[in-house]
Amino acid sequence: MAITSSFNIQIFIFPLLVVLLCTQSSETSTSITDRFTQCLNNQADPGFPISGQLYTPHNSSFPSVLQAYIRNLRFNESTTPKPIVIITALHPSHIQAAVVCAKTHRLLMKTRSGGHDYEGLSYISYLNQPFFVVDTFNLRSIRVNIEDETAWVQTGATLGEVYYRIAEKSNMHAFPAGICPTVGVGGHFSGGGYGNLMRKYGLSVDNIVDAQLINVNGKLLNRKSMGEDLFWAITGGGGVSFGVVLAFKIKLVRVPPVVTVFNIQRTSEQNLSTIADRWIQVANKLDNDLFLRMILQVINTNGEKTIGGIFPTLYLGNSTALVTLLNKDFPELGVQISDCIEMRWIESVLFYTNFPIGTPTTALLSRTAQGINPFKVKSDYVKNPISKEGFKYIFEKMKELENQMLIFNPYGGTMSEISEFAKPFPHRSGNIAKIQYYVTWDELGVEAADRYLNFTRMMYDYMTPFVSMNPREAFLNYRDLDIGVNNHGKNAYVEGMVYGHKYFKETNYKRLMMVKRRVDPTNFFRNEQSIPTLSS
Ligand SMILES: Cc1cc2nc3c(=O)[nH]c(=O)nc-3n(C[C@H](O)[C@H](O)[C@H](O)COP(=O)(O)OP(=O)(O)OC[C@H]3O[C@@H](n4cnc5c(N)ncnc54)[C@H](O)[C@@H]3O)c2cc1C
Ligand SMILES: *[C@@H]1O[C@H](CO)[C@@H](O)[C@H](O)[C@H]1NC(C)=O
Ligand SMILES: *[C@@H]1O[C@H](CO)[C@@H](O)[C@H](O)[C@H]1NC(C)=O
Ligand SMILES: *[C@@H]1O[C@H](CO)[C@@H](O)[C@H](O)[C@H]1NC(C)=O
Ligand SMILES: *[C@@H]1O[C@H](CO)[C@@H](O)[C@H](O)[C@H]1NC(C)=O
Ligand SMILES: *[C@@H]1O[C@H](CO)[C@@H](O)[C@H](O)[C@H]1NC(C)=O
Repeated sequence: MAITSSFNIQIFIFPLLVVLLCTQSSETSTSITDRFTQCLNNQADPGFPISGQLYTPHNSSFPSVLQAYIRNLRFNESTTPKPIVIITALHPSHIQAAVVCAKTHRLLMKTRSGGHDYEGLSYISYLNQPFFVVDTFNLRSIRVNIEDETAWVQTGATLGEVYYRIAEKSNMHAFPAGICPTVGVGGHFSGGGYGNLMRKYGLSVDNIVDAQLINVNGKLLNRKSMGEDLFWAITGGGGVSFGVVLAFKIKLVRVPPVVTVFNIQRTSEQNLSTIADRWIQVANKLDNDLFLRMILQVINTNGEKTIGGIFPTLYLGNSTALVTLLNKDFPELGVQISDCIEMRWIESVLFYTNFPIGTPTTALLSRTAQGINPFKVKSDYVKNPISKEGFKYIFEKMKELENQMLIFNPYGGTMSEISEFAKPFPHRSGNIAKIQYYVTWDELGVEAADRYLNFTRMMYDYMTPFVSMNPREAFLNYRDLDIGVNNHGKNAYVEGMVYGHKYFKETNYKRLMMVKRRVDPTNFFRNEQSIPTLSS
């Protein structure tokens, strides 16, 4: 019965909304906003009034509130679709009210934590329906308990804040998550979350022990009351298809009081293709305490293009041990003791994100991005070594295009010991590395964006022989709308399968759809790449 009615809603109500949207006057749209905000005011807990947290385009601070967490200038254009309301929730009841009222008024809800979604899906919708944003940046408390080595982290917190609060209590504890400190917990943890501790400790989701989730009925659930299937789904399947994650309880991991970092650079003249070829053979087999990244990028000197390689590295040990290890397993890199810097783990976080040595760790608390540009990201998985000739070909193709950067992240270690079904994230054993294609540019505007998007798509095409196929896998946290979009119309099931198999592989994707059907049968929580309800 429930399934039939959800089917009806999608088939019959959705086209009606589209018609309304295309023909409605601004008066109607204002009254939708009015009715919605009215509902929010009525619905919110009187102890926590919501009116001061509501921004419509009529409020003068609407643009600045919207722009505060836009992390990709590609989506800061006048043509970027805009929400009709932003709710800067101060209390969980504000999110609960938002869910209830959005259902009543048939609005699409977007949840934003750190705003780093590569396609801006936390504050943009291309689906034909008015939408609003619940911004969680005010809900960012972090309670670290060193005795039992856990912490409760609200999803509006940033990774920098999490790292800082852990290090404040202990220099022997850490958490495996991303490299950029302004990334938000909400999208990052629920989508997998990797960083330079992944070969030792796995992903963020491999170290999450509990969660608080607001479901489609506005109910607040924890791991026990949501059940293991739903807990599994929101730890890697993207929270956004299932509800609003309010907080995660994380298990801290141990790090030595001193770690070692370096950031060696090599050019084509320094046998970069030999080094790259060796890297791809050893990167996933090196000691689990070592995370050695390889970034390939085009360098333009006096009009001549060459390829430069950067090898940012974190080692959970001292520099003597690191040099000994690399001289044995990766002598081609030619690491010297003078390349190495020993520091506390929390300082390595700053180092890895390119803060100058000596920057106070309070820099991690800043919510201002280090610099933002328009950019586009794509991802791939490497399962077989790329030959030296292969790398030479890749270098040539990079030089033919503009602004290409390929970031190779080593897998192996703990990543390959965890079952591919343990979490929705399926890219475990059998992977040597993940490639992140990153292209950024200076010019604003849609025309420039189209040009660079075309370059990165061509690069992605050139890489076809070197990466996974059937499916060509992709990483959910590197959201890429090129790999399939769902309009949630008649073909939702078929459309979902395309990106679903790439992000999760078939078995995990099926399980995600089963959970989805149970907890959100009317497909209230949806976006262009959400999990559709199971029906063909
Ligand atoms: C500069 C930069 C560096 C990055 N570095 C890394 C890295 O090192 N490792 C890595 O794994 N990834 C990295 N990423 C990708 C990042 O993990 C993802 O973009 C992640 O989704 C961002 O989370 P967010 O909360 O900041 O983003 P948002 O844009 O706020 O959210 C992303 C998605 O999650 C949903 N969402 C947000 N909050 C919630 C919530 N509370 N409940 C349910 N759904 C929610 C949103 O609706 C959206 O669909 C990086 C991204 C950028 C821009
Ligand atoms: C936005 O404007 C409305 C109507 O004037 C007002 O009620 C609301 O409090 C304003 N929001 C904020 C955050 O100031
Ligand atoms: C985003 O666009 C607005 C309006 O053009 C502009 O004022 C703002 O500075 C832009 N944001 C950034 C970070 O450049
Ligand atoms: C590059 O490799 C060649 C042969 O393998 C070697 O002779 C040469 O010294 C290397 N050059 C550098 C700069 O390492
Ligand atoms: C470096 O680490 C190794 C092994 O972890 C240890 O045996 C050695 O004593 C350490 N050296 C210094 C100088 O601390
Ligand atoms: C990029 O643009 C070129 C020239 O317009 C076109 O031929 C090519 O198909 C485009 N490539 C992709 C992947 O979009």
